[in-house]
Amino acid sequence: MTSANVVKVTERDGALLIEMDNPPVNALGIALRRGLMAAFERLARESALKGAVLTGTGRFFSAGADISEFGKTRENPLLPELIAFLEDLGKPVVAAINGQALGGGLELALGCHYRIAAPAARMGLPEVKLGLLPGAGGTQRLPRLIGVERALAMIVTGEPIDAAEAKTLGLVDDVAEGDLIGAAFRLLEGAVARGVRPPRTRDREEKLAAARADSGLIDRIAEPLLKRQRGLPAPRACVEAVRAAVTLPFEEGLKREVELFAQLVNSPESKAQRHIFFAEREAAKLPDMPADVRPREVNKAVVIGAGTMGGGIAMSFANFGIPVWIIDQDHESLDRGLARIRENYQITVSRGSLAADEMEKRLARIHGTTDWSVLAEGDVVIEAVFEELDLKQRIFRMIDEKARPGALLATNTSTLDVNKIAAATSRPEDVLGMHFFSPANVMRLLEIVRASKTSFDAIATAIAIGRRIGKVPAVVGVCDGFVGNRMLHRRTAQAERLLLEGALPQDVDQAVVAFGFPMGPFAMGDLAGLDVGWRIRKARGTKAPISDALCEAGRFGQKTGAGYYRYEKGSRTPIPDPEVERIIIETSKRLGITRRPISAEEITERMIYPMINEGARILEERIAMRASDIDVIWVYGYGWPVWRGGPMYYADQVGLGQIEARLKHYAETLNDETLRPAALLSRLAAEGKGFSSLPVQPIAI
Ligand code: 3HC
Ligand code: NAI
Repeated sequence: MTSANVVKVTERDGALLIEMDNPPVNALGIALRRGLMAAFERLARESALKGAVLTGTGRFFSAGADISEFGKTRENPLLPELIAFLEDLGKPVVAAINGQALGGGLELALGCHYRIAAPAARMGLPEVKLGLLPGAGGTQRLPRLIGVERALAMIVTGEPIDAAEAKTLGLVDDVAEGDLIGAAFRLLEGAVARGVRPPRTRDREEKLAAARADSGLIDRIAEPLLKRQRGLPAPRACVEAVRAAVTLPFEEGLKREVELFAQLVNSPESKAQRHIFFAEREAAKLPDMPADVRPREVNKAVVIGAGTMGGGIAMSFANFGIPVWIIDQDHESLDRGLARIRENYQITVSRGSLAADEMEKRLARIHGTTDWSVLAEGDVVIEAVFEELDLKQRIFRMIDEKARPGALLATNTSTLDVNKIAAATSRPEDVLGMHFFSPANVMRLLEIVRASKTSFDAIATAIAIGRRIGKVPAVVGVCDGFVGNRMLHRRTAQAERLLLEGALPQDVDQAVVAFGFPMGPFAMGDLAGLDVGWRIRKARGTKAPISDALCEAGRFGQKTGAGYYRYEKGSRTPIPDPEVERIIIETSKRLGITRRPISAEEITERMIYPMINEGARILEERIAMRASDIDVIWVYGYGWPVWRGGPMYYADQVGLGQIEARLKHYAETLNDETLRPAALLSRLAAEGKGFSSLPVQPIAI
């Protein structure tokens, strides 16, 4: 792409209209930076030109710096130079913010002398989500425009604001209801007519006064914001950079910002977060999908089963404006499900995160029924009944009979064979798995399970639906547990073994939390309920001695006030329980196991490496297309810390040789064949390579 292609410059009544046209998001890569510099230089050079309007084409003003350039040598002009040149130009430039202005895109607008936004525009500095801080003056200019308190909130959380709020805060001068470019030119004309020197954001000091007069203010504002960010370096650096805006002259503040940015961009955390940014977008791309495949149109959904998952799935559709029918077998189950949906919304309203009238709008999109004829209404049908193959096959025969031709037919099964479910219909090409995670209205991961006969346009439709309802789709193949739960199963098995060998639930949970997960496996088990797995094990004739013993003692987890921990009435805080210790020690004894002290290091390795090993097997079997898809699944479905980049990325950082050696060691010392390194892991280790060296592969069908 040349700079002439990505910046369109036209003359209008003695001023320039400069349009950024670098699809898809107007990322400020080198071509765009050069094109903009050329346009600004022309404006400076040609005395007949009185100013300019700067805007973007499409849905974006600009989504910021080109993330793929980070970590490489970047070519001049760099963004800070470009913005400094613009700000000092001496002729007014109006930013006409037509859509999203994020990161460097917003920083560019902050360097303009005036800003006017379309009503649908959104503005934010999301760099912190990539383990970075705004590195093109955002931390110095934003507080000058909107004050330290709001600037800190935007920079430390990375959350964007809308045009109306931007106007209230003084981030934009105006919101244009109609013709944005026309309004921007009128603003420019007014400024030119007044003949004043174009105002530079850097010169505005009045909104810094409060923080300058009160040296404790920044820390008081920052403390609650940082609390939610788990001591990561980027949010702390964001605060330091804003502090520099208050305590240092502008130029020195900028230098401090650049220094902090340079540290962060090379940090392992930011590298991992950038890996996940791109991995998330890759996970729904199939190497074998023909380029002309288009998703089918979806306007209405039908969900079968108003239980935990069905209710959450229906809420996900309603939250994004899609009407949905829920079918259940009888009025009692249906009413219970609908009541739970209302209750869930009410909790969100009472927390202040949802307006009451918005709740009513969402509820109005959800219709409950026991009448199966509504199946004909659905462009997508998602089945979420009990986990029984016979039942699901029966339901799919009914769906086949009643659903309209071309409807997407999905099952939310977590363990059953999607091929067998698809075979119950006369149209297996329309059938796939849409595996949501609990709570389905909150968790962002959506495993899309491609069965052997699923058509490409069915997969494309599931991906499009997933994106529309705010999910992160990852396409996987058919196997027991698919990708996420199959790996989790390895961790669960080791967690239980660790208890038998000498650890206590709190030791294991502490190690997992210290690694960066929000919760350990036992606290999670208590939250989900231990009875579910117990029933499955009884049906399958398998055992998990400690979990079974707890269930036999009536300890089902939080719902009974006791599980691996005990819980005070009305509290969700796990409290270590001597009674559990007694049950564990007794079980070890009964099984003839001599307990031993187990180090935190061993616990962490046994919680993480067996999962990586299973991930390798999943890649060998072509259940996943790429190692990075597995990373996405763990970050969005299981709380893997994003700053560690997912299990397979993490494995590459540790080194596969090291992981292979530790797995061999544990396989031998614990006499556990499941811990033998997968062939793929051993091969890559021998070649000195990582999982990231593997080419993308089509899913085995
Ligand atoms: N740099 C490079 N590529 C980018 C990009 C960026 N800043 N933003 C998006 N893209 C790419 C995506 O990778 C994707 O590529 P693909 O089609 O090949 O997969 C394509 O643009 C479209 O992106 P999405 O699929 O994400 O499109 P959406 O419409 O769903 O979302 C978005 C758009 C909200 C802009 C989202 O892409 C996003 O959040 N982008 C990142 C924004 C950001 O973090 N900006 C700050 C960058 S850091 C910075 O500016 C540093 C500065 O302070 C110096
Ligand atoms: P649930 O027991 O809460 O809900 C099942 C619902 O299906 C009940 O409302 C029941 O009345 C209804 N149902 C049963 N038979 C029916 C029939 N013949 N016709 C219509 N409705 C019928 O179960 P849950 O947890 O929602 O699970 C549903 C599915 O989702 C299962 O396949 C499960 O494996 C899967 N899943 C569950 C997850 C979880 O964490 N609970 C996570 C991901 C998937």
